[in-house]
Amino acid sequence: MHIEEHVPLATLTTFGIGGPARYFIWATSLDELREGLRFADERQLPVFVLGGGSNVLIDDRGFGGVVIHIAIEGIQYEVAGSHTTVIVGAGESWDGLVSEVVDKELWGIENLSGVPGTVGGAVVGNIGAYGQVQSQTLQWVEVLNTKNNVIECIENTQCQFGYRESIFTHDAGTYIVVRAAYALSHEAKPELSYADLQKTFADQANPSLLSIREAVLHIREGKFPDLLQEGSAGSFFKNPIVSKEEAAVLRERYPDMPQFSMPETTGVKIPLGWLIDHVLHLKGYSEDGARLFEKQALVIAAKRGTSANAVRALANTVREKIFSACGIAIEHEVKIIS
Ligand code: EPU
Repeated sequence: MHIEEHVPLATLTTFGIGGPARYFIWATSLDELREGLRFADERQLPVFVLGGGSNVLIDDRGFGGVVIHIAIEGIQYEVAGSHTTVIVGAGESWDGLVSEVVDKELWGIENLSGVPGTVGGAVVGNIGAYGQVQSQTLQWVEVLNTKNNVIECIENTQCQFGYRESIFTHDAGTYIVVRAAYALSHEAKPELSYADLQKTFADQANPSLLSIREAVLHIREGKFPDLLQEGSAGSFFKNPIVSKEEAAVLRERYPDMPQFSMPETTGVKIPLGWLIDHVLHLKGYSEDGARLFEKQALVIAAKRGTSANAVRALANTVREKIFSACGIAIEHEVKIIS
């Protein structure tokens, strides 16, 4: 196991923000992961598990404990009747996985093309976009239980998946994802309910997997900052879920606002990007280098050199303004590390 000290974390995140890690460990195997945890335990230091760094905002002072970067790789395929089980290491790039399974004509995660980060991060945050959610195809997750150092297999139904949440966010720190298995279909199952995809494929009854992937990548290009130019962690906030009664009040007040029912709960999902854009009129608004992205107001973009404090201050401005305008308390989706 290789341990480094005072490692700058900014370049390991898509925001490009944050100070150094006191200790940094690159875990390419389960043994290295266990060694890293032992190292932290012996020194009684906190641990932060870093995947692709695509959903985190790291404090300007950095992290005073041990950062363990999960770099466990490998993709295996097991054909099982009408589907293939794809078993993948937590450190694999999510989009690398999507690209590979699309090439192999396996259906189920193509609409999640272009989501940055690793497979481990995708499981923990239960990523979803353009009509698909990773929990729809996930079969099981292999985890290291940090409380007893035992490897466990957690079935999908035990993962407590919800909107951007799971047992891994509920019991944060207990489990570290090592591998995940997805059941991907051999049968074509295009999911085109999302408006932009419907429009793209209006004249095509049976679009190919590759054409769906390309369409999603194209839509994303128009909605997210170019990470080569500036930093971002995608949607900074979660869309708030309100009761049917609250949704009806909001519908009366904002008749043009779209609302989305949630199959997994009785609540109604309110598009916060729409509220920031059409109620607060803050799309494009910036404070000290942090900006509500002009093509998608739920996204915070950060110019090179922007501080974590500036991003947090902008987020607070949004939180306060949404609360005073609509009475809704919003939560961030991005994990804040300090
Ligand atoms: N809208 C506006 N103005 C804006 C932004 C959005 O009017 O500035 C409207 C849109 O026109 C649309 C509605 O608000 O009617 C919802 O917007 P969109 O479809 O872009 O999706 P979203 O709810 O803002 C969610 C996910 C994204 C995912 C997209 C597409 C969350 C927190 N975000 O965004 O996921 O890519 O749907 O499926 O659920 C992420 O989690 O980091 C992420 C990028």
